[in-house]
Amino acid sequence: MKSELILMAPIYAATQQHLEAHYLVHCLWQASDQAAKLAELADRIDTVVTPGGRGMKAAEMRALPKLKVIACFAVGVDAVDVAAATELGIKVTNTPDVLTEDVADLALALILATVRRVAAGDRFVRSGDWLKGALPLTQSMRGKTLGIIGMGRIGQAIAQRAEAFGLRIAYQGPRDKHLGYAYHADPVDLAKACDILVAACPGGDATRGIVSKAVIETLGPEGVFVNIARGSVVDEPALVDALVHGRLGGAGLDVFVDEPRVPEALLMLDQVVLQPHVGSASHATRTAMGQLVLDNVAAWFAKQPLPTAVN
Ligand code: GLV
Repeated sequence: MKSELILMAPIYAATQQHLEAHYLVHCLWQASDQAAKLAELADRIDTVVTPGGRGMKAAEMRALPKLKVIACFAVGVDAVDVAAATELGIKVTNTPDVLTEDVADLALALILATVRRVAAGDRFVRSGDWLKGALPLTQSMRGKTLGIIGMGRIGQAIAQRAEAFGLRIAYQGPRDKHLGYAYHADPVDLAKACDILVAACPGGDATRGIVSKAVIETLGPEGVFVNIARGSVVDEPALVDALVHGRLGGAGLDVFVDEPRVPEALLMLDQVVLQPHVGSASHATRTAMGQLVLDNVAAWFAKQPLPTAVN
């Protein structure tokens, strides 16, 4: 008989197909009453798979008293209540490493696209405006300092790439990692020291609003902010207000507070480059992330150690 698990929301199709081929998968989002569905499955489900954006709330964990593993299809597990999981003796797994390079690539793409106004240039050509004159000149990458909030795997991969563009690197994080880059414990001090600021830290309570109004205002009218982390790490209303009124020069944003809804005002701004949360969204990387999810689930059912547990 196939082992059973709950899938909280759809995931990368090939991974989902693999899960469905090997396990009896209960697709929670298809239930008209999700709480009733959890209650119906409560006495037999010990495994849940969930995409990073859906996560799992403490109340949902409590509704499944036999739950032992939540395999999250994402590196960032901020939508899973990990503290509650730990308290309830539930292991949470994520998908680290395999997405680092793609996410760092997107950070550089957003930095370049924002500084050199690539998306605005594309709109300029398509609209026929080029026939009427030249695109206004942009800033240059030369001589700039890149500040990185969160110098983990992704932050360091961004730094490596940025060095190839001649950017100086500075960073902020919980501690000085002695990486040979300038370290600032205070995000405002980092903003003072840089021209381009990229958020690459985990989401969740520890980093909520770390890119504060003060950080944004310190970056200033020539400054650029790039976010490939989570919408929660930035004071989004302050960011939008600073962009609308020219107190921040530009922004490249892959993540937002209330995805897939994006603050209306941003849609009008030529100095902003927007992406639909696609840092890891290549086939190769999603396949590798899916494999890690499958490996964690298979390890659990085989009573083996979980390859990438976070708690
Ligand atoms: C994507 O946002 C992830 O956390 O993997």
